[in-house]
Amino acid sequence: MVTLAYSTDPPASVAADVLVVPVFQGPEPGPGVREIRGADLVRAFADAGFKGKRGEYLLVPNVGLSGVKAGAVLLLGIGPKAEVGPDALRRSIGKVAPQLRKRGRVATTLPQAGGRAFEDAVQATVEGLLLGAYRFTTYKSGKTKEPVEKPALKTVTVIGSPKWNAGAAKNALTRAKVVSEAVMWARDLVNTPAIDCTPDYLAKQARAMAKEHGLEVKIWTEAELKRGGFGGIVGVGQGSVNPPRMIELRYRGGEARQAPIALSGKGISFDSGGLSIKPSEGMEWMKADMGGAASILATMQAVARLKPRVNVIAAIPSAENLPSGSAIRPGDVLRHRNGKTSEVLNTDAEGRLVLADALAYLAEQSPSVIIDTATLTGACMIALGEELYGVMGNDGDLITDILASGDRVGENGWELPLWPAYRKLIDSEVADIKNIGKRYGGAITAAWFLAEFVGDTPWAHVDIAGPAFAEKAGDYWPKGATGVPVRTLVDYIVTKAEGAKRRSR
Ligand code: BES
Ligand code: MN
Ligand code: ZN
Repeated sequence: MVTLAYSTDPPASVAADVLVVPVFQGPEPGPGVREIRGADLVRAFADAGFKGKRGEYLLVPNVGLSGVKAGAVLLLGIGPKAEVGPDALRRSIGKVAPQLRKRGRVATTLPQAGGRAFEDAVQATVEGLLLGAYRFTTYKSGKTKEPVEKPALKTVTVIGSPKWNAGAAKNALTRAKVVSEAVMWARDLVNTPAIDCTPDYLAKQARAMAKEHGLEVKIWTEAELKRGGFGGIVGVGQGSVNPPRMIELRYRGGEARQAPIALSGKGISFDSGGLSIKPSEGMEWMKADMGGAASILATMQAVARLKPRVNVIAAIPSAENLPSGSAIRPGDVLRHRNGKTSEVLNTDAEGRLVLADALAYLAEQSPSVIIDTATLTGACMIALGEELYGVMGNDGDLITDILASGDRVGENGWELPLWPAYRKLIDSEVADIKNIGKRYGGAITAAWFLAEFVGDTPWAHVDIAGPAFAEKAGDYWPKGATGVPVRTLVDYIVTKAEGAKRRSR
């Protein structure tokens, strides 16, 4: 496990295998480089024609750099000063993190930042490093030609200015560690193959996490779900030998009478489509169809460790969607937790069926808001592409807050309308509603389905079908699970808690 430290020593005197020096774009090497003294470095900078553009870097081995203690210096271009914010830092250092991880002990300076900005710079830099260095190696045996990469970073030392508030900088370091570890846990869960990552496995992971971090936990078994009227979760799960579960978690950080923030996440451990079976290309990544569930588990872990002064409750439905002699059929009708019935015309529109029950259960708890997240529709991916999540709901302020959190942490989304005229597209002849609309507007009709289960509670739905899983490596994530939208949700909750504190003073 990586050790984090904060130091205000002169950069040149910090011991490390590699010292990262972020450099703004411009003709001059900048004070960061000159500070580590060396005419040598300044010369290397000039000789290489280094410009400091984003994504540009120069690794200078320390073969006698005057006075520099680190084994090597990595000059890291971060772009024009006016454009450098936390996200640019996170992305720039995230991009070189795969190389840094191989060196073990990493130290980094930060670009000059005034006011509160240094805290955000510290947090973003550490997040970029940790998240960019993430690898999923659980299933690498090392018995093929390809070497198993050495596990991760050993130490990360962030070098700040003595002018900054050291306590605030250390808090930022801790936040970055907690949030990054949560994101990496979510990635691990999503990357774990469905043969191992079953609903019961998720439940056991949740239970262990809750024990470790002091959350209340209840695992609903299939029998309990049946008795409790969770017809959607039971129905979707009945085609698999791996029985469904619902994971309920509670965090009490606020006053007892304060209404909780309620969270839910789609936990389909594998989505074959069921009897409405998917073509094989469409099934390739469907072990990731529990990305919403994983991100809620991870969010609860981060909340338990950061201890904001709010109450949070989570209900995470999990089932495996397989075709078999016991599977639900197109035309079947299911009865959900709130008594509403749904006609299943396509067994591949299963996420909304399991979420319906969890949302209805959460609405019973009189929460202040409900937020759910799900790899729900291919249509959302068609609309917004692979990087943006879609946000829909019945409450403009909540949607605005979530989008603002996403923008702050660099996990961006966009609102899609819960267009009133499209509600009728899910009217059913035989039940209260049906589980598919038309081909067009599929993200919105899916949200309309969910809307039937939240009652009057302010609610937002975050469709992460695009960003939950990356088919190619990005700035601070390798190919595979990304952990979106954990950082958005943690920011939303922490911001809410701080807002409440301010108001109560
Ligand atoms: N899990 C899928 C959505 C999905 C597709 C996520 C691709 C990530 C990548 C979901 O259960 C699904 O199959 N949705 C169908 C709904 C349709 C049958 C109404 C879809 O989007 O095609
Ligand atoms: Mn499906
Ligand atoms: Zn699905």
